[in-house]
Amino acid sequence: MSAEIALPTARDTQAFGVRLAALLRAGDLIVLTGDLGAGKTTFTQGVGEGLGVRGPVTSPTFVIARVHPSLVGGPDLVHVDAYRLAGALELDDLDLDADLDAGVVVVEWGAGLAELLSAERLEITLTGQASRLARVVGVGSRWETPEAVQALAAVCRATTEVPH
Ligand SMILES: Nc1ncnc2c1ncn2[C@@H]1O[C@H](COP(=O)(O)OP(=O)(O)OP(=O)(O)O)[C@@H](O)[C@H]1O
Ligand SMILES: [Mg+2]
Repeated sequence: MSAEIALPTARDTQAFGVRLAALLRAGDLIVLTGDLGAGKTTFTQGVGEGLGVRGPVTSPTFVIARVHPSLVGGPDLVHVDAYRLAGALELDDLDLDADLDAGVVVVEWGAGLAELLSAERLEITLTGQASRLARVVGVGSRWETPEAVQALAAVCRATTEVPH
């Protein structure tokens, strides 16, 4: 499944995260790609809000991985910033496998690294400055069931249609 959606404002990016969170469950991995300031953290803040985890979700400047516990008995949010990670070995050191079981893992700058964590993931690429876009690709059987494809498509449609 693959879709492209428009994210004109930061609020749209956050709202997209909130909507997407409704589909997420423990074990899900989201790999975020996009230049500096593309909106990766803004999106993750929406996911945190949607999941109902303890905030605030911020740019993890000194912390590479931060666990935000659920306040509603759902999955925790594990927010990883792989920007400073030298490679897959260091990602391995974070020992995220246990977190992946208990929570939703969102990795900023994860392309090329985080794929190693799970064969099943959502890849979200944020692009553009004047007109921002997100490309959403579901990888693996988790995202290939008719239910998942339909739910993801509905989230993407709802996001595109956000009124401004
Ligand atoms: N459509 C938009 N989507 C997301 N952020 C936007 C948008 N328009 C403006 N912004 C602003 O751009 C900035 C995006 O910052 P954010 O920290 O989310 O990006 P990032 O990709 O996480 O950056 P970094 O690479 O430093 O981690 C915020 O200040 C946000 O308010
Ligand atoms: Mg960020």
